[in-house]
Amino acid sequence: MRGVVLVKERTVEIRDIPDAELIETTDVLMRVTSTAICGTDLHFYDGRMPYYGKLIGHEPLGVAEEVGSSVKSIKKGDRIVVPTHICCGFCPNCTRGYSSSCLTTQPGKAGAAYGYPNQGDYAGAQAELVRIPLADANCLKLPGEPGDQWENDFVLLADIFPTGYHATELAHVGVGDSVATFGAGAVGLMAAYSARLRGASDVYVVDAIPERLKLAEELGAMPINFLSEDPVKQIMELRNKRRLDNAYRDEHVMDGVMCGIDAIGFQARSQSDYNKEDPNWVISSLAELVNPTGRIAVVGVFPPKDPDGIDPNERKGELTVPWGKLFNKGITLGLGRDQDERYNLMLRNMIVDGTAKPSKIVSHRIPLSEAPDAFIKFDKRADGYIKVVLDPTS
Ligand SMILES: NC(=O)c1ccc[n+]([C@@H]2O[C@H](COP(=O)([O-])OP(=O)(O)OC[C@H]3O[C@@H](n4cnc5c(N)ncnc54)[C@H](O)[C@@H]3O)[C@@H](O)[C@H]2O)c1
Ligand SMILES: [Zn+2]
Ligand SMILES: [Zn+2]
Repeated sequence: MRGVVLVKERTVEIRDIPDAELIETTDVLMRVTSTAICGTDLHFYDGRMPYYGKLIGHEPLGVAEEVGSSVKSIKKGDRIVVPTHICCGFCPNCTRGYSSSCLTTQPGKAGAAYGYPNQGDYAGAQAELVRIPLADANCLKLPGEPGDQWENDFVLLADIFPTGYHATELAHVGVGDSVATFGAGAVGLMAAYSARLRGASDVYVVDAIPERLKLAEELGAMPINFLSEDPVKQIMELRNKRRLDNAYRDEHVMDGVMCGIDAIGFQARSQSDYNKEDPNWVISSLAELVNPTGRIAVVGVFPPKDPDGIDPNERKGELTVPWGKLFNKGITLGLGRDQDERYNLMLRNMIVDGTAKPSKIVSHRIPLSEAPDAFIKFDKRADGYIKVVLDPTS
């Protein structure tokens, strides 16, 4: 089969590798019809989480081609999507709804994923075939057929749509809330979109890339370009204008937002120079911007250590966080990987009944063979590359 292999820093190749196959009787072999590139893949691609010589990818949609003899709920030919984080469904964390902290899929650790360093030795999913372990727990059955009107929506159920939704859950976004999302990549856009789906009234999206900000606006958010002026100041001024002054009682200390989301992670860019990194800046801005009694969600990835980080604390995995400000504001903080299994069924149903159309963020659908070029452009966040779906069937 063909698959996308990370050969060295900033180089992927399409390689012929042995076909994925069933190993356990609880496995399903998926014939992949769509498989997306994620901002997470760029952390490996940039050499910050080395994973060389490996098949990468963790966002596949497809059809069950072979089904292990113990699998009960899936049959050959079923259309399926699987979550990035491989789960068992029966361990103490899975049964409590924390599937990305599964205790059995990488024994001795909490959590496993396809094509990802330190997440178990599971082959990546940017390939023609993927082995799905523990298929009854992981496969979400889908209606329709490959290539239909939902193909680019369903592939986003593997990671990005539930991750964006998870951010709004961690930030307790509710009806009438004000929300600021830092990052207008696929995750930030899906978080903004989910916030609207949950009834938030004002959603702000901060980034510096014009086409991403434009898409945020199309999804119902207010775009904020952080290179033009301090985004905290911009958002506070906008909120202050909405307040119609004398109609409110002593609310000026609440000129920020109730919910803040970090959808960028450890490779966040500097406010003064987009070509430099500044991993401290986003949490400092959120601590400033989020109102007393507010909530902050961090879904952008932070590795345990970042040896190539610019800041000595970051290199040890100990970023500076404005703890005093967060404490005194009484902020609720939520961090971590998407607990996929909590949301996938609900989000699938919202796609099918027409309530949600996450594929609005898919900027490119291209053959798998074009992955090397797509990685170069996506890594530069250039030429409108926002969310790329690879098609291994064309
Ligand atoms: N928690 C999870 O389960 C989970 C799942 C998927 C992805 N992720 C992580 O989420 C993050 C985003 O993924 P993505 O696919 O959207 O990636 P992406 O790289 O396409 O998007 C990141 C965006 O952030 C913007 N940005 C950079 N610095 C900024 C700053 N200081 N302020 C505002 N915007 C800034 C960039 O311009 C870019 O548009 C990554 O760290 C990824 O690893 C987490
Ligand atoms: Zn992903
Ligand atoms: Zn489990």
